[in-house]
Amino acid sequence: MKAVTVLPGTPASVQLDERPEPQAAPDMLLVQAIALGVCGTDREIISGAYGWAPPGKDRLILGHESLGRVMKAPAGCGFSEGDLVVGIVRRPDPVPCSSCAVGEWDMCRNGLYTEHGIKSVDGYGAERFRLAPDYTVKVDPSLGMLGVLLEPSTILAKAWDHIDRIGHRTRSWSPRTVLVTGAGPVGLLAALMGRQRDLEIHVLDLADTGPKPDLVRDLGGTYHARTLADDFAPDIIIECTGALPVLADVMKRVGSDGIVCLTGVSSSGHPLPFDFGTFNRRAVLNNTVTFGSVNANRAHYEAGAAALAKADRQWLSRLITRRVPLEKWHEAFERRPEDIKVILQFEADAT
Ligand code: BGC
Repeated sequence: MKAVTVLPGTPASVQLDERPEPQAAPDMLLVQAIALGVCGTDREIISGAYGWAPPGKDRLILGHESLGRVMKAPAGCGFSEGDLVVGIVRRPDPVPCSSCAVGEWDMCRNGLYTEHGIKSVDGYGAERFRLAPDYTVKVDPSLGMLGVLLEPSTILAKAWDHIDRIGHRTRSWSPRTVLVTGAGPVGLLAALMGRQRDLEIHVLDLADTGPKPDLVRDLGGTYHARTLADDFAPDIIIECTGALPVLADVMKRVGSDGIVCLTGVSSSGHPLPFDFGTFNRRAVLNNTVTFGSVNANRAHYEAGAAALAKADRQWLSRLITRRVPLEKWHEAFERRPEDIKVILQFEADAT
């Protein structure tokens, strides 16, 4: 079978390899890949800056945003042949730490977790793969190909879960406005979930053309191309760019009792002048919270699946701006100006 592999740490080593079929494993599901979503983490791994091969191997099968169809399922495991499924990305550390011990591997404390297609376990960029039923999530069949948006949705399901928990430190928590920075897939899914919570949505991005402004307006939100009014102080900010000037701005502009959730990973080594005095003064005097959020546990996969199931299918389908067939696999990893979510299709005729 074919699989997209990389040599972690070696730039531009990505290739389409011939790999043996997955080994027999009676307790696991056998899954036929339908599509694989591509994200910034995949490009970072391809650039050689991130990623780890499985122990004892040189190459890593890339891919963590899966969508597949069950071909074989062990009896009584809760899955049946034909189910549309997504594999959970992270596996708990073997110790396990106190978070992994309770199924909160997204909060792993010792860093010994593994991640499919990223850290020490092969990913889902292969024609077929095995999934443990406990690390598999069903997707609403009516989503079809749109189920490939589940993994990025889980990142926001977690972010919103933690925003809600932090917000409830005050009994009067009733946010009205959310600002999302970055109108990529993560930002747009953050905005969708904000809309599903009946919040007033604002999205900031650099683009003033292309599909992003309309996608935000069609959610009933306000799109801000490049700038925000000086006095705009939202209750919640979900930062999805990792861009330093954006970060510096949002950390200072959140409103009283406000919450800033950071989801974008910045590169290190680019110091920027930042007025920590003003940041600290505002944070203390206005009870603001700034926190980071990564990955997702099973509850977030279920919340993400529920959010997608109730979303408008037409709107979701506009997030997938390129569908690349396996023969042209390398094009899926190119970055083009109007891309939002690019997917690699393993099944040509998939809906
Ligand atoms: C993935 C997460 C993962 C993170 C860090 C992201 O692209 O969506 O599941 O935890 O990268 O490796």
